[in-house]
Amino acid sequence: MTLDDLDALMARRFSCRAFRPDAVPRETIEQIVAAARRVPSWCNAQPWHLAITSGEETDAFRAALMEQAMAGGHEPDLPFPSSYPGVYRDRRRTCGWQLYEAVGVEKGDRAGSARQMMRNFELFDAPHCAIISSPADLGPYGALDCGGFVTGFCMAAQAAGVATIPQAAVASFAPFLHRWFDIPEDRLVLCAISFGHADPDDPANGFRTGRAPVDDIVTWRG
Ligand SMILES: Cc1cc2nc3c(=O)[nH]c(=O)nc-3n(C[C@H](O)[C@H](O)[C@H](O)COP(=O)(O)O)c2cc1C
Repeated sequence: MTLDDLDALMARRFSCRAFRPDAVPRETIEQIVAAARRVPSWCNAQPWHLAITSGEETDAFRAALMEQAMAGGHEPDLPFPSSYPGVYRDRRRTCGWQLYEAVGVEKGDRAGSARQMMRNFELFDAPHCAIISSPADLGPYGALDCGGFVTGFCMAAQAAGVATIPQAAVASFAPFLHRWFDIPEDRLVLCAISFGHADPDDPANGFRTGRAPVDDIVTWRG
């Protein structure tokens, strides 16, 4: 495996927002999790834990989550960003517009954008969903370690031909997630990863996000 191979794999991954219904075999999911757990963590604490749904469990969760979302409320365990200033706001807007343009939601179409946002709570029709939690005692560094795990999971899945999307939106309803998945109160729900096989023909999967040039994100010294 060369850096070029890894770069090619990373370039192929994207956040999938339309899945086909066919399930991923349990052995493949196990292999993805086994690979993802190789990521580093501070003191090798490996703070991640996943609740993974398949089959009817995904459908029951999807229905209950949708009900929660329709009822409204926003109570994540981890505070959502308070703002996206400057360049972060620009990047956020750009990727939002890319999505809306792809699915045919015009600027200013609030109902259309709300409908697309609600697709989060249908898990974009994915056949599987993983809920990632971290021990509250490990604080932001536990969350940092789990962020690495999320990336490891997405990359391992990509290598297996499985599409993914990390979803903070799902973590909006943390009290419900604690109840539904029996996640103890001393753990923080961080995000979900919905996964399965991508529907390549769905317009929601028809765009790719950009990245800032290397020189914009590195301060070279020496
Ligand atoms: C922690 C995290 C949370 C995310 N939450 C959501 C989400 O709730 N809904 C969504 O549509 N995309 C979500 N995304 C996907 C990002 O929008 C996406 O990664 C970003 O726009 C870059 O595009 P790419 O993943 O296709 O390369 C999330 C990504 C990460 C890493």
